[in-house]
Amino acid sequence: MKLSESVLIQGLRSIVGEANVLLGEQISDDFLKERRGRFSSQTMGVVMPGTAEEVSALVRFCKQNSLPIVPQGGNTGVCGAAVSVEDSVIVNLARLNQIRKVDATGFTMEAEAGCILANLQAAAKESNLYLPLSLGAEGTCQIGGNLSTNAGGVNVLRYGNARDLVLGLEVVLPNGDIWNGLNALRKNNTGYDLKNLFVGAEGTLGIITSVVLKLFPLPVHRSTVLIAMESVENAVELFSRTRKETSDFASSFELMSRVCVESAFQNIPDCKDFFDQPYPWYVLMELGDSTRDGISQQLSESFLESAFEDGIVIDAVLATSEKQSQEMWRLREAIVEAQLYEGKSIKNDVSVPLDCIAEFVEQSISTLESLIPGIRPFAYGHIGDGNIHLNLSQPRDMDGDEFFGRWHEVTDIVHEITDGLNGSFSAEHGIGLLKLREMTRYKSSVELELMRSLKMALDPDNIMNPGKVLPGSSH
Ligand code: FAD
Ligand code: MLT
Ligand code: ZN
Repeated sequence: MKLSESVLIQGLRSIVGEANVLLGEQISDDFLKERRGRFSSQTMGVVMPGTAEEVSALVRFCKQNSLPIVPQGGNTGVCGAAVSVEDSVIVNLARLNQIRKVDATGFTMEAEAGCILANLQAAAKESNLYLPLSLGAEGTCQIGGNLSTNAGGVNVLRYGNARDLVLGLEVVLPNGDIWNGLNALRKNNTGYDLKNLFVGAEGTLGIITSVVLKLFPLPVHRSTVLIAMESVENAVELFSRTRKETSDFASSFELMSRVCVESAFQNIPDCKDFFDQPYPWYVLMELGDSTRDGISQQLSESFLESAFEDGIVIDAVLATSEKQSQEMWRLREAIVEAQLYEGKSIKNDVSVPLDCIAEFVEQSISTLESLIPGIRPFAYGHIGDGNIHLNLSQPRDMDGDEFFGRWHEVTDIVHEITDGLNGSFSAEHGIGLLKLREMTRYKSSVELELMRSLKMALDPDNIMNPGKVLPGSSH
């Protein structure tokens, strides 16, 4: 028999305490808002457990009562993966926010899943260590959300995606069992690598409650350079030289088109141009090292000089202070917010092999410009990872809803070009609700069936974030 909503709410309260079940007007936009306005979110309630045991009891209760669960971190995801439907409960992990241990000998950190990423970075730094996972949303997103989306960010080049930074996990499974896989071992070949099932699963296979992460030496010497370029092809060539000539010291190699930086100058305070004239493309590059005397500055100066002589670089500004370096990063990170001021925008997050990036950008932009005259392409992203965010802002004279109505036409063009270049329709943001069509279109039936079998094995009642990632998996 299905219990009434008030009895269900009473049950949730008995597990986490009345103050930790938010209802109706207590539920702020922070839990419900989807940034691009593509999806609306509703929920029976937001539940905030304080321990893994409470998460486990909640999951058992929800399973017993067929209540779908939407695990939630900072709700900064961009694919609608933390969006909830009316009869679901949002389980937000914010109260699991303890940093348990920073191990300066083993270069590891153990923390609860609800810790804000920036707090973990700061804790590592206090011990003169470095947590390299870094993204524009780091002041709000939680490590559990980062792992569940296998987040990328600006340091993937040297340190890998979120997946590469995990040593151990604790997860509450869809039947309520707690799997304790919290080891800090660098080597552990004992059967299937279970932790990787949950990384990138977007909360569909369980709720991550704690993590053990890898740390690195703190790059105390950094060289941040903003480089002006004529073409994307030159940016790719420069990237290849950077790897060869700087001993792989580069941690970031970010591309920005003129349209992107102009929007940042116009819409975001404290964003300024570093050059006295406009250029079509920019690269923000960072090298870092922890050697005694520091070699990053010298390395970047010497190899940029030769790139300049060969006409690959038109102009470059090397940051001369920490403040200037931060201003350059501010420009890159402001792009996401700046685009929100430009009306409605259609999002893409693709990756292609490096030698196809220029072709991808050129072909996509020219096809889209003939499809929708006046469309404004914001091309930026992690070019060193082959990952471009080709976000399209509406033409200035078009109605926003009319533009949104053409979402599939636009993304189909971008994804077909990507597929033709052997790329991926989702490089770092995941699937959520946004890319279910693409899952059906581009994943083989073998892959989809394998994913469905895993889901069925772990979550036969389909209570863990139903409807996300797997097409046709709504509750
Ligand atoms: P949420 O948005 O709350 O959730 C995301 C998914 O994870 C959902 O499916 C949710 O159910 C699941 N989830 C959350 N917590 C848990 C848990 N503990 N256990 C199980 N499942 C869970 N992404 C990048 O990859 N690279 C970038 O450079 C980047 N930059 C960004 C910049 C800005 C300004 C913004 C707004 C977003 C950016 N993102 C980026 C996207 C987003 O920040 C990441 O996807 C981030 O990892 C999401 O973390 P979150 O805690 O906000 O997760
Ligand atoms: C970025 O690279 O800035 C992020 O992935 C965010 C985004 O594109 O929305
Ligand atoms: Zn990105």
